[in-house]
Amino acid sequence: MVSGEESAYVVLTQDDAERKRLNDAYHYYKESVRRGKFIYDESLVLPEDAAVLDVGTGSGAWISDMVQIVPSSVVIHGIDISPAFFPHIQSSANQNIRLSVHSCTSLPEDWSNSFDLVNQSLLIAAITQDEWRQNLRETYRVLKPGGQVQLFDPDFESLSSHPGTAYEKTRLILESLWAKHSLMFDFKAQIACILMEIGFKDILIEVKEGPIGKQKGDAGLEGADIQCRGLRSMQPIILRYSGFGIVNNSEEFESLLDTIQREWDEGTSWLDYVVVCARRPSTAV
Ligand SMILES: C[S@@+](CC[C@H](N)C(=O)[O-])C[C@H]1O[C@@H](n2cnc3c(N)ncnc32)[C@H](O)[C@@H]1O
Repeated sequence: MVSGEESAYVVLTQDDAERKRLNDAYHYYKESVRRGKFIYDESLVLPEDAAVLDVGTGSGAWISDMVQIVPSSVVIHGIDISPAFFPHIQSSANQNIRLSVHSCTSLPEDWSNSFDLVNQSLLIAAITQDEWRQNLRETYRVLKPGGQVQLFDPDFESLSSHPGTAYEKTRLILESLWAKHSLMFDFKAQIACILMEIGFKDILIEVKEGPIGKQKGDAGLEGADIQCRGLRSMQPIILRYSGFGIVNNSEEFESLLDTIQREWDEGTSWLDYVVVCARRPSTAV
């Protein structure tokens, strides 16, 4: 982790299981939520000498896709607050990948006006409400004029919560955890305003429902598996806060997950995801 930096990130482990969880989740979000897309704006043309940046790169799943479709003249940077997964991303065959440890709220000074495309996905559980502003100010600064940012994150405000369901309990746990860490719960409601305040233009926001539960076929089963593993990854921190009075130990946590899966199979709960594209204007305004 960057020295002196505190992270609000609610996932405490960075082992092989966590790397696999991130890779599997990336597959589900790309294939079943975004319908195969990892560059969201289909009209985007990257020049031969483009530079792209993946913020909070994690297991490097997005970089692995990008490196296959761009010429080796395109430089792909990945930054993360922790280098834990870097050795699995960099290979001698991919000399155009550059990885470095930075916080998304404080990118290198000499990166101003450098990038054609900045990708950032699934940082909702990692950066506070205030840090989002600083993070996107930094993104604006490091983009070339005319460069594009793309964001992807869940909108927890969309979590359905029929009274008395396990999913309602889960929503209460997540709301409490998000409040403790000053994280952003209502991504969809806030993100466009933040981008506008900073000066981004051509802001496009698309909401996608994540298929979940048996009635949505294989994608729904994959969605249920990914969501359960996502919730399990937060179990240590949730229990550290005594389960917010809703679950007292790991047995109760697992029993809640069992019930949620039945509710997903019955089709009574869901979660929306938000795909965002925005552009730094080509000329100063
Ligand atoms: C849920 S993972 C998402 C990884 C990847 N973007 C993806 O979509 O699979 C969140 C990542 O953000 C990193 N992270 C947490 N706080 C950060 C910060 N302040 N700046 C940069 N990265 C951060 C974590 O180390 C972790 O790798």
